[in-house]
Amino acid sequence: MTRDTFYITTPIYYPDNRLHIGHTYTTVAADALARYNRLRGRDTYYLTGTDEHGQKIERAARQRGVEPQKFVDEMVEWIRDLWSELGISYDQFIRTTDERHKRMVGRIFAQLYEQGDIYSSTYSGWYCTPCESFFPQSRIDEGVCPDCGRELSWVEEDGYFLALSRYADDLLAHIREDAEFIQPATRRNEMIRFLESGLEDMCVTRRRDAVDWGITVPFDEDYVIYVWFDAVCNYITAIGYGEDEEHFERWWPADIHLIGKEILRFHCVIWPIILMALGVQLPRKIFGHGWLTLEGEKISKSRGNVVDPFLLSEKYGRDVVRYYLLREIPFGSDGSYTERSLVQRTNYDLANDLGNLLSRVTAMVNKYCDKMLRIPEGEVTEEDRHLRERAQKALQGAEEAMEDNMLSDALDCLWELVSAANKYLDSTAPWDAETTAERRSAILYNAAESLRVLAVALRPFLLDAPAGIWEQLGLSRNGPVDATSWDDTVWGGIPDGTEVQRGDPLFPRMDPDEVVGVGDEAEDMEVGEEEREGEDSLIDYDTFMQMDLRVGEVVDAGDVEGADRLLRVEVDIGEDQPMQVVAGIAEHYSPEDLIGRRVVAVANLQPTEIFGLQSEGMVLAAEAGEQMSLLTLDKEMPAGSKVK
Ligand code: MSP
Repeated sequence: MTRDTFYITTPIYYPDNRLHIGHTYTTVAADALARYNRLRGRDTYYLTGTDEHGQKIERAARQRGVEPQKFVDEMVEWIRDLWSELGISYDQFIRTTDERHKRMVGRIFAQLYEQGDIYSSTYSGWYCTPCESFFPQSRIDEGVCPDCGRELSWVEEDGYFLALSRYADDLLAHIREDAEFIQPATRRNEMIRFLESGLEDMCVTRRRDAVDWGITVPFDEDYVIYVWFDAVCNYITAIGYGEDEEHFERWWPADIHLIGKEILRFHCVIWPIILMALGVQLPRKIFGHGWLTLEGEKISKSRGNVVDPFLLSEKYGRDVVRYYLLREIPFGSDGSYTERSLVQRTNYDLANDLGNLLSRVTAMVNKYCDKMLRIPEGEVTEEDRHLRERAQKALQGAEEAMEDNMLSDALDCLWELVSAANKYLDSTAPWDAETTAERRSAILYNAAESLRVLAVALRPFLLDAPAGIWEQLGLSRNGPVDATSWDDTVWGGIPDGTEVQRGDPLFPRMDPDEVVGVGDEAEDMEVGEEEREGEDSLIDYDTFMQMDLRVGEVVDAGDVEGADRLLRVEVDIGEDQPMQVVAGIAEHYSPEDLIGRRVVAVANLQPTEIFGLQSEGMVLAAEAGEQMSLLTLDKEMPAGSKVK
């Protein structure tokens, strides 16, 4: 059964250090699900925030020589900036240092104590400070933490215990009965096995002399509440549990707690048991996604293999980072991160497939249809029907996948349509001289319509590209893409007479050898270094001399199919064969203008493929606003002469 509201949460993040690309993964995934549900017209609430108490934060603050509160305030600001950089559309950002949260956690703790679900006893065991977790002897090998590999401390103290064992059978029965409760199925099985092996009660306090930075046990000042007990309660304190019942009833139970697989036990055992003890309904679903790994290991601060998501987004753009995270890693499984694979994904999927489809369509509508998209009136061919069917199938597949939280599957489905539309253009060949004007217009309308439905359906995943497609298809005049809903994916929405607006490519194609790793040093940039940047932009004589500039004679030139800004230019640079260059000069020169001209060419540029043609160099031109002028020579010089 689907509801008309949707409440989604991410874990709340430790602000002890900067977040890395692994944390970004959880948040971006939750954001895509929240955006999808809004697009479906569901009233959606997306909660994220920070987990600010505990020994780990206390130590990190001490190392910096500041008070914990000041320390977390600064870190939280950075986290909020990161989410804004990535366009994370949360409705609330909860901090566990918020007064309401602290007040309610104290009350929850006191209620469970009064009920006898929390009791006082003595504890001894192994504790990992970075993970803020106790571990039973059975999970410990060589005295190190089974999760992060760092040293454990032996803790012996009196404390308060949560009677997990009291609820273990009920919880196990619930997990068995409701197959949806823990997802994916592998995680559900893992939790069933864990519960079957027996559940011990758990210490949910730390002595104040060991950890001072936390919520005080309301009836015993010598103790602070264990950070995980404090943290999981955020999912209900944020929406007004115990204080604003109306708001609470509106959103609870959460439709999905999206978490990483290593924090499954806290969410699938401790949290449900706290709720059971409180007599509050359990969340509908807990989804444990996999890890982003780097060279086979989980990306984590403790392993020192972090990748800064801020830098990545500034370097490649937020859509690139979002798309890569959501497409590359099959949702639920682990997936390995490399910057190279990010660049390749961008080139293949975003620049070549999606971006190219848009360039081809707008270029041809410009060239053949006087910029105008007209609703087809002629016969609907087999190819047209096939494209529509593919669109319907892609959208249906994406919808089913999203209802199941399978983000990467949803993108796979949508890319089926991208590739179907590109193939449709190839097979219908609107550029063919034999194609009638009416047929051309129909083909281009259908291809543009595929892009229109894609722009709507991609809104949960990409933030800038849908608006770019909308603009270039000329649809913005009727309202922004942001005003669309999933219902707008029904075929045939481009109004008759829509005028396309050619624009820049949606995504740049990049050479991985040139971009990967470049700019990584920026993270370590000290204040003052920025000032030296200007100097760095000067090149020395030797660097300049590395350029092979030559006089070239244009011996042939022609159009580039599907790209009305480009020309293919053959330049004699004194070699056996002329050099082929694909140049963006078609709006200023016709092929006939060029033949016989002497130009200045770069002869040692890395070859690259543009619109299926090999481009082996460059011809130099001056540009000012709308104007462009090729560099020519004021004396006759032989082709191949060195320019310096
Ligand atoms: N503060 C706790 C959560 C409390 S929720 C009541 C915590 N914080 S965390 O900052 O360490 O992690 C937050 C989220 O980031 C978790 O879902 C975690 O799984 C996720 N990730 C951290 N590193 C990750 C990867 N390398 N890959 C994917 N997700 C990872 O745990």
